[in-house]
Amino acid sequence: MFDPQAAAPAMTLAEKAAFLTGATAWTTPGLPRLGVPPLTLTDGPHGVRKQLPGARLMDLDQSEPATAFPAASATGCSWDPALLAEIGAALAAESRALGTDVLLGPGVNIKRSPLCGRNFEYFSEDPVLSGELAAAWVRGLQDGGAGACVKHFAANNQETDRMRVSAEVDERTLREIYLPAFERVVTRAQPATVMCSYNRLNGIPASEHRWLLTEVLRAEWGFGGFTVSDWGAVTDRVAALAAGLDLQMPADGGPAAAALVAAVSAGTLPEAVLDRAVERILRVTARLTGPRGDSRPAVDHERHHALARRAAAGSAVLLTNEDEFLPLDPAAGGTLAVIGEFARTPRYQGGGSSQVVPTRLDSALAEITAAVAGRRDVVFAPGFTLDGAPSPELLAGAVAAARSAADVVMFLGLPEAAESEGFDRTAIGLPATQLDVLRAVAAVSQRVAVVLSNGGVVATRPVTEQARAVLEMWLPGQAGGGAAADLLFGAAEPGGRLAETIPLALSDNPSYVNFPGAAGRVRYGERIYVGYRWYDKVARDVAHPFGHGLSYTTFAYSGLQVEVPDPARPAAVVRFTLANTGRRAGSEVAQVYVSDPEASADRPERELKAFRKVRLAPGESCLVELALTERDFAFWDEQRRGWTAEPGTFRIAVGASSRDLRLTAEIELTPPLPPTPLTLDSTIGEWLAAPSGRDALMAALAAAPGGTGEIVIDDSMLAMAAPVPFRQALALGFAAIPSGGEAAFLARANAGLGG
Ligand code: BGC
Repeated sequence: MFDPQAAAPAMTLAEKAAFLTGATAWTTPGLPRLGVPPLTLTDGPHGVRKQLPGARLMDLDQSEPATAFPAASATGCSWDPALLAEIGAALAAESRALGTDVLLGPGVNIKRSPLCGRNFEYFSEDPVLSGELAAAWVRGLQDGGAGACVKHFAANNQETDRMRVSAEVDERTLREIYLPAFERVVTRAQPATVMCSYNRLNGIPASEHRWLLTEVLRAEWGFGGFTVSDWGAVTDRVAALAAGLDLQMPADGGPAAAALVAAVSAGTLPEAVLDRAVERILRVTARLTGPRGDSRPAVDHERHHALARRAAAGSAVLLTNEDEFLPLDPAAGGTLAVIGEFARTPRYQGGGSSQVVPTRLDSALAEITAAVAGRRDVVFAPGFTLDGAPSPELLAGAVAAARSAADVVMFLGLPEAAESEGFDRTAIGLPATQLDVLRAVAAVSQRVAVVLSNGGVVATRPVTEQARAVLEMWLPGQAGGGAAADLLFGAAEPGGRLAETIPLALSDNPSYVNFPGAAGRVRYGERIYVGYRWYDKVARDVAHPFGHGLSYTTFAYSGLQVEVPDPARPAAVVRFTLANTGRRAGSEVAQVYVSDPEASADRPERELKAFRKVRLAPGESCLVELALTERDFAFWDEQRRGWTAEPGTFRIAVGASSRDLRLTAEIELTPPLPPTPLTLDSTIGEWLAAPSGRDALMAALAAAPGGTGEIVIDDSMLAMAAPVPFRQALALGFAAIPSGGEAAFLARANAGLGG
């Protein structure tokens, strides 16, 4: 094993420059002279996409077989960090078996719009949920000996013009919405690498964004791994390295290294900048390659398939279930009609860099048939084709099958061509042909359940209006068919809760008028009001709220207690009891939301700050305890450029969705506010509120031409004067700087602030 400390100083300038760019599409150069092996990086994140020898970058379907786990839009709905850690561990085993070192994931970008073509690769519209799940995945992966690559840093929330577009986002919005998931993963799971995104952030390419890559990522969050470009994201290698982008991928044949050597020779780039980047890559290389040596552990693909099946069931969201229509009785007798092409041609993963060649692929039709074998007859009708072309014949076949059956299960969803990496969707409806078939089937059967497969959100109202039960399975991975059978007949329970709101209409979405932007810019005009933060703020009706999902059993929440050990320090412990009041075992996701109704800044109606998934047997109950920290009460204070938890009343709500709050409590917090110094631009109201401001203000009013020593400010005068900046009071002649001058006056006004 090489010594990373010793290797860097022994490298020539040319070697260092070459070390900072890929040697191939997927490997770093390594340095045989010093015994430094190359690192292999592969996609990610839902399975290992190790390309076959000779495959080109764009040959997305030429890779070694690997388990296709459910996509992140599914596992995001599991709200189950332990499950994500298990998947991470399985991915580590497959990575190591295939001889790869870094898996390019997880993707923790926030779902800003339902249209983002890559939403299936992201967990949630909420940063706490995204960050918690991603951190668990990274821990599982890295404990298993592989390295993670958190992506795409940052503000990469659309595919349209993704390589050029500038995301125009204010700092508060970045801090509260788009950065915290990255922050959580970095601070809690220490990922080996972070991938910069393609887009610009406020005009600067993410690959050259010093504030992102160095100030925030390293100085503030303490990131200790190396940064890597998204594939082809670097256009100015020298600027990128100087900003903190360590490794450029993929291989470029030499120009990047040559540019670095030239810049060092010309004196425009210190060689120490290369040293630092080289050292970071060496350290990660030593950590990942040292323990593994040449060993390639065997993988139990059967076990991973079973895990993928459990994960798909644990992520499926039961949106509606009239009169407990599901689960169906596998032994009830009566024919079961399975309708929809997806039942035999599953839509199980998304297109683009994350697609893998699965080790095997379940079909729901085969799994359902096996589940009821010998007990119920199954008839199948495809109903529609995946190209969306209407077919009267297939429609008639579906209606005939439904008419002959006691129960109908329909498999609907988005075909592959509808969503993928590389482009955004333009609408959220299901294909019209599928809805036509659904309506025709529902006209002849009162007993229809629908199973949905789609990566991004689809409009569900046209489906829930026709079907007795709707099960959203997202892109459930290679074992989705088996999981669907488990769920339909109650061998498994739907463990998912929505990680994103399903709106009634696309135009309800807060980013609607600002997505995907134009002329190279996309303004995040909705600011912090993303997803439920918007829908709840404006009380907009939605199809299904954030956090929603039914179970086959019922749960009761009781006994909320919120303990505040010291009101001066914003922190609390939330305790409540959760009981399974139904007849079946099941899991519930208890969600804790915090509201700050007295905030000086505008804040969302409520924000998710903690959650716990609990599995309970019928009649069983348990005490749930969740801690809230200072950050959970704070907002990003633009004036102070920091997190501020203000004194006042906070509301803590516990429930089963952002719209199904079962318990609430109020607490008083009295944290001291860091003082804001008065300036001439502070308002009269601010002067009056500051400790020494009132006296100084009175002196200034008295010093005005015609001013008297005694001034009484009554309520109506105060209401009018409070918003007036002191500078304007001077201009209007109501006040004057007393003798002694401005500096002395301001010093007096700010006396006691400690500078
Ligand atoms: C994607 C990344 C991916 C990389 C390598 C890029 O186009 O944005 O997510 O990891 O390609 O395939």
